[in-house]
Amino acid sequence: MTTATRGAVGTAHTRVEGRDKVTGAARYAGEIPFADLAHGWLVLSTVARGRVRSVDTEAVLAMPGVLTVLHHHNAPRVTTDYVGLLGVPPDPTVALFQDDRVAHMGWPVALVVAETSEQAREAAEALVVHYDREPHDVAFSAERDTEAYPADGHMPAVVEKGDLEAGLAASAVVVDERYTTPEEHHNPMEPHAATARWEGGRLEVVDSNQGTNWVAGELAGLFSLDPASVRVRSEHVGGGFGSKGVRAHQVAAVMAATVLQRPVRVVMTRRQMFSLAGYRSPTAQRVRLGADPDGRLRVLEHRSLNLTSAVYEFVEPSAAAGRSMYAADAHHTASRVVRLDVPSPTWMRAPGEAPGSFALESALDELAERLGIDPIELRVRNEPSVGPVSGLPFGSRNLIACFREGARRFGWAERDPRPGVRRDGRWLLGTGTAAGSFPTTAMPSTAAVTAEADGTFTVRINAADIGTGARTALTLVAADALEVSTDRVRVHIGDSDLGPAIIAGGSMGTRSWSWAVTAAADELRRSLVPGADIPPEGITARSNTAEAVGALAQKERHAFGAQFAEVAVDPATGEVRVRRMLGVFAAGRIVNPLTARNQLVGGMIWGLSMALHEEAVRDRSTGGLYGADLAGYHVAAHADVPPIEADWVDDPDPDDPVGIKGIGEVGIVGAAAAVANAVWHATGVRHRSLPIRPDRVLSAGGDA
Ligand code: MOS
Repeated sequence: MTTATRGAVGTAHTRVEGRDKVTGAARYAGEIPFADLAHGWLVLSTVARGRVRSVDTEAVLAMPGVLTVLHHHNAPRVTTDYVGLLGVPPDPTVALFQDDRVAHMGWPVALVVAETSEQAREAAEALVVHYDREPHDVAFSAERDTEAYPADGHMPAVVEKGDLEAGLAASAVVVDERYTTPEEHHNPMEPHAATARWEGGRLEVVDSNQGTNWVAGELAGLFSLDPASVRVRSEHVGGGFGSKGVRAHQVAAVMAATVLQRPVRVVMTRRQMFSLAGYRSPTAQRVRLGADPDGRLRVLEHRSLNLTSAVYEFVEPSAAAGRSMYAADAHHTASRVVRLDVPSPTWMRAPGEAPGSFALESALDELAERLGIDPIELRVRNEPSVGPVSGLPFGSRNLIACFREGARRFGWAERDPRPGVRRDGRWLLGTGTAAGSFPTTAMPSTAAVTAEADGTFTVRINAADIGTGARTALTLVAADALEVSTDRVRVHIGDSDLGPAIIAGGSMGTRSWSWAVTAAADELRRSLVPGADIPPEGITARSNTAEAVGALAQKERHAFGAQFAEVAVDPATGEVRVRRMLGVFAAGRIVNPLTARNQLVGGMIWGLSMALHEEAVRDRSTGGLYGADLAGYHVAAHADVPPIEADWVDDPDPDDPVGIKGIGEVGIVGAAAAVANAVWHATGVRHRSLPIRPDRVLSAGGDA
């Protein structure tokens, strides 16, 4: 411990693996070389519901290079009778080839394994599978609420406080509106890919995922293996957004590697990802707000309907978003689900909050309009002093500080509140704002920090860098905790043999891992004798934050944000262009401003994309998606994205050793509502269904 270089945290740092990534030296799961590698290609069902009657393997087994065809008659047996790292039961979709049931279009029915990827694909496309079709039902709509039920996902589905009807009767103004959001897909740049092999009695999987302990635990559970005999590595990950947990590709690779006793790789195609990687459920939401003439809310009611598959219950908890946002005497929120013959939806960046904030924050804007109160002032008047439903204190809550700073920088004070009155040539102009929040959590993790004989430090923590810059953030955190410069710190991540740590998800990765790294570094500093030599094997200290994290007091813990957007709408073509966006966030201490801004801007771009472009459309007759690829599924491209600014106010978390909250998800929350509110301000027309497509703008007309 010689030089005390203070304060790496909070200073901009390029990614420590950045050079490897831009030069191609960084290898991704689908391109890491293995000797004697065989390739598997998944075969997906062409019916939406029914049974596999037979699989004609004979002709395919005679094709060049084909090694085997796995299906429900010959695949290894697995069990779903276990609970994984996240404490939720497995989606039985990953119990591949266990019976003849087909639960949705694109259900995995076979795996063809061959010497090369091309041979496997050729044979997979030639494989004839016969089905007994059954009628399917994929029609999601608000009317399905009659068959829906409240479901407990990872939070209570229904929360009711106060008398709703009495509150509505006493309200001077009531907003009662319905909103919809479509099925949306993650589309991480890097497709899901895994290679499995048996090596010295251990199962080894090289994968692209959001947590190697998580995937290792699921594979151990599925295949009834001793968890210590499963190793999963995932060094570089090209995006996850919630989709990269245990999925068909790893399970198929393990099955084939077990049967063939050689390494097998399975990579999903982009099209297969639309069936196998999960997605965000469409939502149908209703919001009722009742307020006094001064804007004080008497009633906040938010009901949301989402779909789930026939085999697994996943709740998109859109109605939960409001529980921490606004005070109201009567506060009713409910998320319900309906079962359909579709793939299981899953977590997707800001699950619940992203679609929920579109409805709630649009409704707030409608209330502001009817009351003649500025939308920011309306939020100020309903700012809670404690959790509106929980009654718990806030860890820190700087939402209004975000609005004040955002309003100043955006020029909100000069805004004319009247809709449809600004023109720039053929364009109608408008501005809008919305709030956002996302829960901040810390989860137990372990870390090891070694003082090396050469004066450097090695940090070992099973973190996952899914593109967020986690490896770099942890380098800065470790350097500060050790009081050394960052060039003396090396961080190893992405290997389940490094010990248990929480996943990159729920905006809790960097906070949870930083806690563990800080604790191990502190421990190491205590055990080092100043001036004493370090032995060749180094000196290692370890941490486990289970106790410290478990001792956190019950509080409302969230990151907050204020979103601003300016749009231009062409009333002749229905085109909506976003001209600028600003997001100001209160999201804890910012470890690395460079990569943090990237996270927040990335979320905001996704919000823009959600507002204007993204929509997966399911064909009711086949049960599949139209255009399941990046040509048919539109995402915002460079030409759609204007200058976007993200910044933050000072908001260190008072209960975190580093002051971190988490930034992975809050950037998308409220962004789509800000755009939709700006479209109203431009045109005078409310769009309550996303995306705001040109045809919707045209058919809605306006004040043009
Ligand atoms: Mo995320 S949806 O927390 O990976």
